Amino acid sequence: MRALEDSSVPNYSAVVAEDLTMMSERLHHVFAPMSGEDLLITGGAGFLGYYLLQAPLAWNHLHPDMEPIRVTLHDNFARGVPAWLTALSEDPAVSGNLRMVTRSVLDPMPDDEPRFDWIIHAASIASPIFYRQFPIETMDANVDGLRMILDDMKARAETDHPVKGFLFFSTSEIYGDPQPEHIPTPETYRGNVSCTGPRACYDESKRYGETLCVNFAQQYNLPIGIARPFNNYGPGLRIDDGRVLPDYARNVLNGEDIVMLSDGKATRTFCYVADSVSGYYMILGGAAEHPGESFNIGTDLPEIDMRELADRVVALGKDMFGYEGQIVQKTSDDPEYLTDNPNRRCPIIEKARTLLGYEPIIDIDNGLRRALAWYESQEER
Ligand SMILES: NC(=O)c1ccc[n+]([C@@H]2O[C@H](COP(=O)([O-])OP(=O)(O)OC[C@H]3O[C@@H](n4cnc5c(N)ncnc54)[C@H](O)[C@@H]3O)[C@@H](O)[C@H]2O)c1
Repeated sequence: MRALEDSSVPNYSAVVAEDLTMMSERLHHVFAPMSGEDLLITGGAGFLGYYLLQAPLAWNHLHPDMEPIRVTLHDNFARGVPAWLTALSEDPAVSGNLRMVTRSVLDPMPDDEPRFDWIIHAASIASPIFYRQFPIETMDANVDGLRMILDDMKARAETDHPVKGFLFFSTSEIYGDPQPEHIPTPETYRGNVSCTGPRACYDESKRYGETLCVNFAQQYNLPIGIARPFNNYGPGLRIDDGRVLPDYARNVLNGEDIVMLSDGKATRTFCYVADSVSGYYMILGGAAEHPGESFNIGTDLPEIDMRELADRVVALGKDMFGYEGQIVQKTSDDPEYLTDNPNRRCPIIEKARTLLGYEPIIDIDNGLRRALAWYESQEER
């Protein structure tokens, strides 16, 4: 296999090039059957889209002897077209196999779109800060947008061109705030979720989305897989996204103190995005074999609190950039910032390990180092 050189695609930092090469190798068994076929990614202009889009394009690049995977992105670009996507779409090495369509997933599928062989539905507002501002839009993408795709899959199931695999992005938030005896949390746990609280637009629409997926898979025998991501971080996550790690990274890169908007005691396991996106593609590739199944995708170790995360970021900041700031505690201006925020979150990932061969391999310090290096290479702070 040829190495992916930094210079081959604009704006690839060394970290990204290394991640994509690793993902291409790990996902060869998923990507090879997609060779010469059409893949649709909805919501691909967001954080996870960064590697969801680039991984198959990198695989194409590394396998010039095989028919390329043709990638189409549908996004409403509500927060604009990110610079990385503009650069990618203008790069002659990949642009022939990447199409960008401005479309809300609530609008009908344009007649001239190809009959996609593989579909990933990632479109949804995902950051708590933004979904609390746009709760109806959040629910619509996860319920009505999903339903349109499922209806189309059902209509095509008996034709000579059925969809071969579909992946729905659910969330670990469907478990809500699990009781201590259900942490670490397996897929069989039913959840402890408010149906009316400030996070309910997200949690409950993902829960109903899963119910739609399971029933379409069972009733119409469709190849549908469901991912439940647990706290991903790394390249692609905008520094102004409002999630905890980019907030800390921005503080470090601007030489400010790290601001913790809580008592720092809530715990999470943080999964580096090259690992998690590998897991998502494994679910897509295995959807026909495991229809209607949901998989926790994340990492099971270490479970750390927000204070420890801040400590680790400070230590890395010192080591990498000579950072001299400290950690300070403040209260968010948003009164709902912590309402229904789970105290602990940690997955059991045995199901994905056993059935899909999923294994996170980038440990937290390596992942944080990679994430900080990527943020440092970006213009926006
Ligand atoms: N990142 C995580 O750790 C995480 C955790 C749990 C679940 N998820 C799920 O994974 C998926 C992707 O997450 P992300 O972190 O990349 O989110 P993101 O907010 O960074 O990106 C989502 C993308 O969806 C697009 N979008 C939103 N509504 C749309 C609509 N109606 N039509 C078309 N496009 C629309 C946005 O413009 C954006 O580009 C989401 O479904 C999210 O709920 C992510």
